[in-house]
Amino acid sequence: MGTYKVRVATGNFLLAGTFSSISITLVGTHEESDKKPLDNCGKDFNPGAVEEFKLCSRRWLGDIVLVRLHKEPYSFYPTDNWYCSFVEVVSPHGQSYRFPCYQWIEGYCTLELREGKGQLVCDDADSPLLLEQRQAELTHRRECYGQVELRLKGFLSCTNSWAKLDDINKVFCFNKTPITEYVRAHWREDTFFGYQFLNGVHPMVIRRCTELPCNFPVTPAMVASSLGESTSLQDELEKGNIFLADYKILEGVPANTINGYQQYIAAPLCLLHLQPSGELVPVAIQLSQSGPDSPIFLPSDSEWDWILAKTWVRYAEFLVHESVSHLLLTHLIDEAFTLATLHQLPMCHPLFKLLLPHTRYTLHINVVGRTLLLRRGGIIERAMGSGLEGTKVLMAKGMSCLTYSSLCFPDDIQERGVDCIPNYYYRDDGLKIWSAIESFVSGIVRHYYRSDAHVLADCELQAWADEIFREGFLGNEVSGFPSSLRSIPELIKYLTMWIYCCSARHAALNNGQYELGAWMPNFPATMRNPPPQAKGTTSLESYLDTIPEVNSTSTILFTLWVICCEPGDSRSLGTYPDEHFTEEEPKRLIAAFQGRLAQISQEIQERNKSLPIPYRYLDPHQIENSTSI
Ligand code: FE2
Repeated sequence: MGTYKVRVATGNFLLAGTFSSISITLVGTHEESDKKPLDNCGKDFNPGAVEEFKLCSRRWLGDIVLVRLHKEPYSFYPTDNWYCSFVEVVSPHGQSYRFPCYQWIEGYCTLELREGKGQLVCDDADSPLLLEQRQAELTHRRECYGQVELRLKGFLSCTNSWAKLDDINKVFCFNKTPITEYVRAHWREDTFFGYQFLNGVHPMVIRRCTELPCNFPVTPAMVASSLGESTSLQDELEKGNIFLADYKILEGVPANTINGYQQYIAAPLCLLHLQPSGELVPVAIQLSQSGPDSPIFLPSDSEWDWILAKTWVRYAEFLVHESVSHLLLTHLIDEAFTLATLHQLPMCHPLFKLLLPHTRYTLHINVVGRTLLLRRGGIIERAMGSGLEGTKVLMAKGMSCLTYSSLCFPDDIQERGVDCIPNYYYRDDGLKIWSAIESFVSGIVRHYYRSDAHVLADCELQAWADEIFREGFLGNEVSGFPSSLRSIPELIKYLTMWIYCCSARHAALNNGQYELGAWMPNFPATMRNPPPQAKGTTSLESYLDTIPEVNSTSTILFTLWVICCEPGDSRSLGTYPDEHFTEEEPKRLIAAFQGRLAQISQEIQERNKSLPIPYRYLDPHQIENSTSI
């Protein structure tokens, strides 16, 4: 008897809200309430809202153990999805209950939520209602995760081209997110193509171009209409508004055979212009490093010529991203770092205490990667244009041109000349995180090392750095990688680089792969025809016969989906539940580090509110401490 207060929180992000009609049933140990609509004045369930509703019950319900959320059609509004964060109930006597949800509620359905206390099955033994609920939840979840396999089964055996573009959507029609939908709607647009060089899944390629490379003879006339009347190519080069994405590394990489057919690889060059509006757009694309048979494609070419040229660049991105930036320069080098840490630093060493959390699961995920991806008959061989041989060649090339500075985030930004591009959230967030890690590491290092000589004399530390240099970087001195650490500043930079690579760098490369790749033409893993040697030869039909066919698309999408699933027991950057440090000072430094990361996260979430595509990959909350997926 009396009035229950019900608070409902909606996820604080794009499209989390709903127009559907939401009702609730409170289920108590004694009785359950009637189903009551949750409806205040005006629009409810907006993103980020926590709304309070009053619910009168003439009956006494007992302790509230369960709530049912009913999502039903409202008026003429189309079906939508709702992300509910949690429900809170306060009884007429002031007893408060919290029901975590943190999931999407799709279409129209009823979802049962349990009160937040952890309960084993034996704890529910006295309540048939609760036993039934946990059984029903598991049955539903097994069906959902079974569906993935069933739905993919038909696709995985189909070696045909996609009959029409929209069909591609069918592979993962049950796993849409606002970003996958955004990509599908905007993938053809030059501004979105340019945007991805800044805030996509591989935002570390473009360099400022002050002089055109001689193998890319773009003339002023070719780009005049793209640049606008008031300027010229020369002017824009001088002003620093021209950028280049060069995939020279792909030249000569052998291509795979998939479903019995030869695949193709190109080594494109793509010129981009930073427009006065602040948007980066492609203005010219050449699909090889040289040669008379490689026209320079322009936005003014026919629609499908230009889309195909851009798709070749996106494919080059896929190959370099997956083989070099992601697999080699996070997973595999982090493995060398992990092994050296385990081989060379004893448990009582302060740097062991510092680094161990940043090696968590790295060996495990790499074993899985080798088993699923890098083996005969694995995913790379079955669905990637470079296959096993090409991927090995590509990784070897990536290794030989790797530099220390490219892994030191602020140096990389400087060297690529991208410090002034507007709306480059990857850079802005990355610099903040780098600096937060640096001050944390600096505190730890200065607490344990009193002088440069002290660093130099630490034989365990030197053996650690030496093993990384020899095993991880094959003793390549041209790379600029230090083989020994001679001073406090050198040590701070080196440790910062490692912690950044294991956590933030991997998150930036890993977490968006599914969202940005689910619409396959935006991130194709192979191409089934050679790049066109003349303009005017591409149509929708020839495009569909060039991009991956049904089965290899499905293989890749399934893989991207799995590696972007949040691991069940993730630990975000800066969380150290295992207390390896017992002294006060390191604990204080950890707390300060966590405080700074929380602040950065808040700044990012605030900034994202006004963006059409939120950039979340470097939100410290979404960065894992280690390369673990
Ligand atoms: Fe990964």
